Amino acid sequence: MSKLPPITLEQPEDFAVVESLIDQAFGPGRYAKSAERLREGNSHLAGVSVVAREGGAIVGCARMWPVKVGDRPAVLLGPFAVADEQRNKGLGLALVQAACKAAADAGHALVILVGDAKFFARAKFEPVDPKAVFFPGPVDMRRVLTLALKPGAADGLGGAVTRP
Ligand SMILES: CC(C)(COP(=O)(O)OP(=O)(O)OC[C@H]1O[C@@H](n2cnc3c(N)ncnc32)[C@H](O)[C@@H]1OP(=O)(O)O)[C@@H](O)C(=O)NCCC(=O)NCCS
Repeated sequence: MSKLPPITLEQPEDFAVVESLIDQAFGPGRYAKSAERLREGNSHLAGVSVVAREGGAIVGCARMWPVKVGDRPAVLLGPFAVADEQRNKGLGLALVQAACKAAADAGHALVILVGDAKFFARAKFEPVDPKAVFFPGPVDMRRVLTLALKPGAADGLGGAVTRP
């Protein structure tokens, strides 16, 4: 496998470039996603959100946001994007793993996201109980996935997903 661009924490000065990468990856539909309801009025977590850097350019990102599931604190992963020319080399998976490791290192116990179950199973994400967890807005509950960063953190998970 070819060498992947290094992944580091997103810095305040990266903000505009990361926004433009996300816009290119998702188009205007970006703001229509139900997960966006958890990001409005919220701020992504510096020290946990990550970017991939190739030369001077940012070619991938995974942002992390504070949320709650019921009364449990959790981190919402997304938007998550890789530049067109860098796709299908394993960078997406590496970004997810790096963001989750940064979250674990910062003491977070649980990551939640909306995404493809097959892809995120590669990073050990599992579907939530669709009858127990409530998302703000329409979502295919088979795509609501969690990863426990501490043993048992996802056990018996239930309640509404809210922003703090
Ligand atoms: C999703 C994305 C970040 C993956 O980046 P990447 O660097 O190509 O990811 P990896 O190289 O680690 O993995 C590639 C695999 O993911 C699969 N994949 C890509 N996009 C996918 C998607 N939306 N749903 C499911 N699987 C997807 C590819 O088919 C490939 O599968 P393979 O390994 O079986 O061939 C990138 O395609 C992207 O930015 N897409 C647009 C934004 C987006 O959809 N973000 C995810 C929202 S949850």
